[in-house]
Amino acid sequence: MTATVPADLDAWLAAQHARTMDELFAFLRIPSVSARSEHRADCRAAAQWLADRLTHAGFTAALHDTPGHPVVLGEWRGAGPDAPTLLVYGHYDVQPAEPLELWTSPAFEPEVRDGRIYARGSVDDKGQLYLHVKALEAHLAVRGTLPVNVIVLAEGEEEVGSEHLEAFLETHKERLRCDGVVISDSTMFAPGIPSILSSLRGMAYLQIDVQGASTDLHSGMYGGAVVNPAMALARILATMHDDHGRVAIEGFYDAVQAWPDAVRAQMRTLPFDEEHFRAETGAPALGGEAGYSVLEQLWTRPTCEVNGLLSGYTGEGAKTVLPAVAMAKVSFRLVPDQDPKVIERLVAAHVARVCPTGVTATVTALHGGRPWRSELGGPLHDAGVVALEAAFGRAPVITGEGGSIPVVGDFERVLGAPVLLMGFGLPGENAHAPDEWISEENFRQGARAAATLLDAYAAAQR
Ligand code: BES
Ligand code: ZN
Repeated sequence: MTATVPADLDAWLAAQHARTMDELFAFLRIPSVSARSEHRADCRAAAQWLADRLTHAGFTAALHDTPGHPVVLGEWRGAGPDAPTLLVYGHYDVQPAEPLELWTSPAFEPEVRDGRIYARGSVDDKGQLYLHVKALEAHLAVRGTLPVNVIVLAEGEEEVGSEHLEAFLETHKERLRCDGVVISDSTMFAPGIPSILSSLRGMAYLQIDVQGASTDLHSGMYGGAVVNPAMALARILATMHDDHGRVAIEGFYDAVQAWPDAVRAQMRTLPFDEEHFRAETGAPALGGEAGYSVLEQLWTRPTCEVNGLLSGYTGEGAKTVLPAVAMAKVSFRLVPDQDPKVIERLVAAHVARVCPTGVTATVTALHGGRPWRSELGGPLHDAGVVALEAAFGRAPVITGEGGSIPVVGDFERVLGAPVLLMGFGLPGENAHAPDEWISEENFRQGARAAATLLDAYAAAQR
């Protein structure tokens, strides 16, 4: 029997679609940029907006303050103590929208073009979070009940490393006790191909500050005798890779585990056109670690990337200056079982070793998160397969991912619950970039899948 979306829920979601879009647009208009202190009130407003929508749907919902942005906690426990509990996680914070001039329509004024909803946060993650809220509302509106207990946990610091969420999980461990966690904050392999994500890379994010002279100097009067921090930093960064694209930091690969054969076999069956991937990025050629396919590079291998560089004069025209300082933001994507804390130490030791004479280099850890790989299988995974097949009319593929959701490992570790990652973004969605969008069709299908998941999960537990 092929799985189907329950007709009562399907009809409600379809009938509500226009109103749902209005609501989503209101959510998207709130510029909840977690990285910027001037948006602190906006983050709170987005959290409150979400809590209000959960309350409207029939949940008990409240904001919980953290030293950073508030956590939204919604609960519905009407299924009783013997029924399983599912936790839905998402984030209401978004990345900064800059550079603003590259947006076709303003980042916080959502606009639909060609079936795509354009706005910062449309796919990452407000749209994907809100489709779960509507799925829950569908159950409560149509049936007056949910087949399982549900906790909705939405944070406002995912885009800045989820700094306070782990402590929140620890503090509220009992209250958050659940049998599974579902997250929609990822992409599908391709349009029409629903996907379950089986791995995420971890992250160690560092800042390197290089200090030379105590002040900027005339580059003619001092250049050649005083060491230039920008050049020194370039030299330091150039030591991070060898000629084969491998990270050349001692011990960096020590904890890297071989990828499970079953997942690698699955990966090879996925139709992936490396030339199409290159063309989509606009880069003249691809690079990276030699000996691995692009999907292997992205999903199974750790990396070192410069995310930002700053030094000297960068304004209009020329200025002959020997800068006093140089700074780089450097992040490492990690794979199982690399530990962000260990990587931070290895990088600091490496920088100390290669730092040229005449400058000092300081390494500061900004944030980190563990890599994650799922076991696949179990009632939640199986329910995910059923729900995605019902909504999309075909079975999901199993994918990997190069991005990070730092809290996923914490859910498993602190709450002891398996995590199902079913995302509804699409390749080319411009997450973190100008013109971010979510497919309106995927939002619809995602909501249908999320609604079906609850029934399928309850059935799988019986
Ligand atoms: N939703 C993304 C991560 C993601 C992207 C998962 C694509 C799966 C597919 C998430 O919001 C994100 O961007 N996370 C940051 C985390 C970082 C700040 C620790 C990332 O990956 O850069
Ligand atoms: Zn996200």
